[in-house]
Amino acid sequence: MQSREFHEALPSTQDRALELARQGVPEGTRVVARRQTRGRGRGARDWASPEGGLYLSLVLESPATAPGVLPLAIGAHLARAFSLRYGVPARLKWPNDLVVSNGEGAARKLSGILIDEVGSPGGRRAVAGIGVNVALPPGVLPPTVEATAASLSEFARPPPGLEEVEELTVGAALAARRELGAPGGPEGAIRACSELLYGVGEKAVVDGDGRASGRIESIGPDGELRLRTETGPISVRTGSLRFEGGP
Ligand code: BTN
Repeated sequence: MQSREFHEALPSTQDRALELARQGVPEGTRVVARRQTRGRGRGARDWASPEGGLYLSLVLESPATAPGVLPLAIGAHLARAFSLRYGVPARLKWPNDLVVSNGEGAARKLSGILIDEVGSPGGRRAVAGIGVNVALPPGVLPPTVEATAASLSEFARPPPGLEEVEELTVGAALAARRELGAPGGPEGAIRACSELLYGVGEKAVVDGDGRASGRIESIGPDGELRLRTETGPISVRTGSLRFEGGP
């Protein structure tokens, strides 16, 4: 196993892994915490991190793809792994979430993926920060977060252990990075992301630099979201996606 740093509590595994990445640690180095006190989400949001979740940051070589592709490719590998191992109906919510949806009611968030890039003596590194709701007891998340969250333990009996989920998650992230470095890999990864995409055909709004809305179609070659509007197709590269009544 590559080097693994474990902490009972850290402000953020991401910040610690970024420190290590800058020092030039090898791909596969990981930082894990039982809980985080200042967990970070995308766009400077907080990531509530009580005990019962997986909080992992993994150092990877930076793939030569557009920045939007890596979180989606990791998400696709993770969705397949959780579906195979635990029977979870996991889908990919653009740009960086895994949600569960059984076709009834709004989808709920199972995992979030945050990518930070940094220079190191060995070249550029990506740090993949992955939070997974494994077995969160009721009442430990803030109420607004809990209302739209799902845990693996709802699907898997007996509830999965944190170490098992950590190994699955690391395996999925490394497989995604290798796929993106292989000939034809990025194209295959994008196809898989489109197949696993949540909300295809539904009306959605993306709030980013501006506001875009339309029906979700697919993922484009740079990880962009393709929407169909009344005036034709558009692509959105950054932003947060929302559905009426969804997560
Ligand atoms: C998101 O959905 O906005 C991304 C959430 C990423 C959370 C993980 S938990 C491990 C790592 N450490 C952090 O502070 N954030 C990431």
